[in-house]
Amino acid sequence: MTNTDLHDFLRSRRSVRRFIADPIPDSVIERVLATAAFAPSAHNLQPWRFVVVKNPEARTRLGTALTTKMCADMQADGAPTSEIESRASRSLRRIDEAPALILLCRDVTTIRVNTPEEMVMNIQSTALAGMNILLAARAEGLDANWICWPLYAKEETRAALDLPETWEPQAMLIAGYADEEPKEKELKPLNKISVYL
Ligand SMILES: Cc1cc2nc3c(=O)[nH]c(=O)nc-3n(C[C@H](O)[C@H](O)[C@H](O)COP(=O)(O)O)c2cc1C
Repeated sequence: MTNTDLHDFLRSRRSVRRFIADPIPDSVIERVLATAAFAPSAHNLQPWRFVVVKNPEARTRLGTALTTKMCADMQADGAPTSEIESRASRSLRRIDEAPALILLCRDVTTIRVNTPEEMVMNIQSTALAGMNILLAARAEGLDANWICWPLYAKEETRAALDLPETWEPQAMLIAGYADEEPKEKELKPLNKISVYL
């Protein structure tokens, strides 16, 4: 791959939320996760943990946990019932239909000293593994989407999937073969987001 190809490849990644039903072979998921683990991490502590949710019952438990918490939060915020119901059913459908579903966690014990800065670096490192998942999936001809819901329901997610106490859910990544074309995206102009000194 030339440099130009790599730039094109990186620029081609988009969030895709609808997939055809084709399943993804385990070997593909395994390659994606193996590549994810090549991400850099502060002090090389490799805080990321991956949960591949395949089992239909586990998926249902995860979907129920996430949407129950989402509905309770929306209710507390005074959202209209119709909006709560449509959000919940859309979320459940997305979890149900995603050909691959990977929960991205960090192990909270993989930290050198308990300072806010070290915690941020721990989370940043985990996010880099998440980015590697998106890109490695793309390299396999898949598209994917990063979903933040588990962050709002850490305890519920951990309980629903019976995860170790020290695994803190950070995000959920869904992947599959695309069944939609992402809309054109407007990027902020480079001269507004960078300075040269
Ligand atoms: C930290 C983070 C959280 C996100 N959470 C969600 C989410 O909960 N639901 C969703 O549909 N997309 C989510 N996204 C995807 C963004 O909406 C998407 O990356 C953004 O709109 C830019 O579009 P692109 O990925 O196609 O370039 C998230 C992305 C990031 C990086």
